[in-house]
Formats: sequence, C-alpha cells, structure tokens
Amino acid sequence: MRKAVPTVAIALALAGAATLWVGYRPQLFSPFAGVRQPISPSKFQLSKQCPPSFELVDGYSCRFRSLYQLYAANPGGGGLRVSLPPLADGFSPQQIDLGRYLFFDPLLSRNHDLSCATCHQPDRGFSDGRARGARSGGGAQGRGGPPPSRRRAPTLWNSGFLRNLFWDGRAHSLVEQAQGPLFAADEMANSRERLERELNESRDYRQLFSQAFGSELQTGITLPLVIRALSAFESTLISLNSRYDRYAHGDDEALTEQEKRGLNIFRGVTLSCSQCHTPPLFTNDELEVTGIANAPGLPFDPGAGGVAATREFLGAFRTPTLRNIARTAPYMHAGQLSSLTDVVRFYNDRPGHAAPPGVHLKIDWRMALRRPVLSEQDIQDVVAFMLTLTDETMAPEVPAQVPSGLPVVRLPMVGQQAQAVARQ
Ligand code: HEC
Ligand code: HEC
Repeated sequence: MRKAVPTVAIALALAGAATLWVGYRPQLFSPFAGVRQPISPSKFQLSKQCPPSFELVDGYSCRFRSLYQLYAANPGGGGLRVSLPPLADGFSPQQIDLGRYLFFDPLLSRNHDLSCATCHQPDRGFSDGRARGARSGGGAQGRGGPPPSRRRAPTLWNSGFLRNLFWDGRAHSLVEQAQGPLFAADEMANSRERLERELNESRDYRQLFSQAFGSELQTGITLPLVIRALSAFESTLISLNSRYDRYAHGDDEALTEQEKRGLNIFRGVTLSCSQCHTPPLFTNDELEVTGIANAPGLPFDPGAGGVAATREFLGAFRTPTLRNIARTAPYMHAGQLSSLTDVVRFYNDRPGHAAPPGVHLKIDWRMALRRPVLSEQDIQDVVAFMLTLTDETMAPEVPAQVPSGLPVVRLPMVGQQAQAVARQ
C-alpha cells in the first residue's frame, strides 16, 4: 500500500487472471444473492504487507516497533529517552489498506463531496490549513455552502496513541471518535443506513471488505467494520523519526546550536512547555486551560467545560501534539494564531491576557509564572526547535482512484508554504 508497493501494477497483473481471485466469498453476501453476477476480479487489491516500522506477528497483526519502546523512563520526568504509551495497533495489512481507501473516498459523506482527507490532508499534516473545518454541502473548500464548523481539524499524526480525542477530549479511542465526523451535521452529515447501503452496493467494496474481514462479513458491510478499517489506517500515521528524534536517540549533530537552545527553553521550568507538550509525543494527552482568545466572530468555546460541567474544565482543551507542527498552521482550536512565533508570544505574555472577557477561567498554574521572560532571540530559538519535529516518512500513498469511482480530492503541495508561515 505504501509508496514501495505498486498497487496498480498488482491490479494489472491480476486483470487477466480472474481465476486467481481467492479473497471473494460470494456465499457471504446472501443479501445480494439476487443481483450477483459472475465474479470478475476487482481492480483494487489490498496490500498483504504491514507498513514500514510495523512487524507482522502471527501472520495476521501488524505491530509497531520503535526505539522509544525500549526506554524504561516515563514521560514527564524530564528526559528525552522516554517510553511511548501503548498504540492501538494489531490490525491486519488488509484492514489497514482498506482504511486507506475509505479515508480518501468521498462516498462516506452524504453529498459525496467530502472525504476524511478533505479536512485531514496528508500534505498539510493531516489538517487542512483552515481555521475552521469545511462542511458537507459546502464543496471541498466550503465555499457558498453552510458556514464552517466551529473548530479546526487537528492533525491525525500519532492519534493512535491518544486516549483523549477531539479538542475537548470527548472521545477516548479512534473507534469511538470515528462516529463523530461520519454523522455530524457539520461534517460528513451521513446516516448509518445510507453509508452501509452505499458501501454494500459497491462490488469493489464488497470484495475489499471480504479480503479484509473474511468470515466476519456475515451480513454484508456494517458500520463497525468501516470504523475498524478507518482506525486501522489511522493507527499507522506515526511520526517519530524527525531530526529531534535522532537527537533524542543520541545523535548530537542532528540539531543545530539554535535548535538546542530552543529545546532547552522548551524544557526549562520557566515556560514549562514540555510539562504539557511532553516528549516523545509532545502532548501529555490531558485537558489544560491556556486562556486563548475567542476566535473572531465566534462565541466562547467552553472546550471540555461543555462536556463535563465542572468549573475546572471551563476553557480546557486537550493538549495538541507538536509533531509536524510546521505543517498545520493556523494554530489553536479555532486557528486563532497564524504562526508559531505568535504562539510563543502568546505564552510569553501575562497569563490570561487573551482570555475571553466575562469568563472566569482557572488558567493552569504552569502558565502563571513570571512573564515576559523570553528575548526576541529566545522566541526564534523555540520556534526553530519546534520546526525540528517534522517527519513525514510514514505518510501513506494517496490512492489514484477509490472504489466508488468518485474523484479523490487533489491538493496542491503546501509544505513549504506552511513552513514559511510558521517561520514568520
Ligand atoms: C468537514 C471536515 C472534516 C471531515 C470531513 C473529517 N474531519 Fe476529522 N475532524 C474535523 C474537526 C473540525 C475535528 C475537531 C472536532 C472537535 O474537536 O470538536 C476533527 C477531529 C478528528 C479526530 C480527532 C483527532 C484528535 O487529535 O483529537 C480524528 C481522529 C478525526 N477527526 C478523524 C477523521 C476521520 C477518520 C474522518 C473520515 C471518516 C474525518 N475525521 C473527517 C474535521 C473533519
Ligand atoms: C498548561 C499546559 C500547556 C503549556 C505549559 C503549554 N502548552 Fe501549548 N498548548 C496547550 C493546549 C491545551 C493547547 C491548545 C489550546 C487551544 O487550542 O485552545 C496548546 C497549543 C499549542 C500550540 C498549537 C498547536 C496546534 O496544533 O494548534 C503550540 C504550537 C504550542 N501549544 C506550543 C507551546 C509552547 C512553545 C509552550 C511553551 C512556551 C507551550 N505550548 C506551553 C497546553 C500547554
């Protein structure tokens, strides 16, 4: 499935050899018995290999392997060689590859105009460069349709390690989370019945789900299988091989002097960045109150305070990872800050200086030490350090075609653009 595997070439090789097809089990599709035609092979074939950095265990499960798993120290203790939280891995190569097709297929949205990748674009760190998400019915860029959703699309890099998902932490696993975008009126706006019906109507999808789930497909394609495949794919979006990581693993040359200065400020007690953006994921996966301003034109967003009605959580948001942060401007839950320099200036200012008027937030104590403390040079050093957290070596291959035949959203390369913005 990844760049190394020529899916199209495999499909072509199989095109003339219908009898080689072994994955499709027509008896599993009794609901379609009336419409079944002679079986010809799908031009889509799922990969039988795990993605790079994953090892095939017991002939079935892809298990992630990383140097970080060898370290015993717990995150938050101050060191760089710290252990990773468990990853929701263990899916088969076929389930992961099926998830990739689903992720890029606009068939999943009600109007067939949005795929997951419209808002979580691989070239933009799996965010979309917009302050607030597009909506189904608004076209790929959300123009001329309903207003955008109230929050920004977060990166999906390393989301398989998280226990608190969404900006307000209201979901606790990728499986639980996936129901959100599929059915939310301000996202893909689909219904379960419609999604299952449309997938079952696709001969290609029936074959692919059969390859991925075999005998579990008793009654055709169901929502839980769709969600498992999407989660399988998302669990492979791992970024732990940046220049910073080489430095953490012992390569002293991997960072410049400026970047090392930035790292030291980031880890220092005064600003405590690393207390919340804890290595190696650069998030503690917890809800924190930073006192960021309202997004222009939007009412106060209570964050986790809208989920749990305790005052402590008013204005709290799940600490976002800083992995691939160079790619995901604008920043904060509604894109309030446009550059990384602006973000560091925000933290360097008086605690609560930007907090929405009339709301009493319990701003985190780690934000409340003496400010300002950073010189202009220090600010640029911290930004330079954050830009070392870029690693996209495990980016998936964007499929040229998806089983529904709908156009895959094509996106301009924006990596350098995003970096330029981040450096301002
Ligand atoms: C219309 C734009 C849009 C589409 C389409 C979309 N998302 Fe999202 N996604 C968002 C926004 C906005 C959020 C944050 C919502 C919030 O926190 O309240 C989000 C949050 C997430 C998160 C949580 C990440 C985190 O760090 O907490 C995951 C995972 C995710 N989406 C996966 C998906 C998948 C899988 C699909 C396709 C089934 C999808 N999204 C489709 C906009 C979108
Ligand atoms: C008390 C915990 C805490 C501390 C300390 C902290 N952060 Fe954050 N950080 C957060 C939270 C929570 C958010 C999301 C806030 C929001 O969107 O409303 C965030 C957002 C960010 C973002 C934007 C991420 C994105 O995807 O939009 C960056 C960059 C960032 N912080 C860098 C830093 C730096 C640099 C420091 C030190 C100067 C720091 N943070 C200190 C919790 C913290």
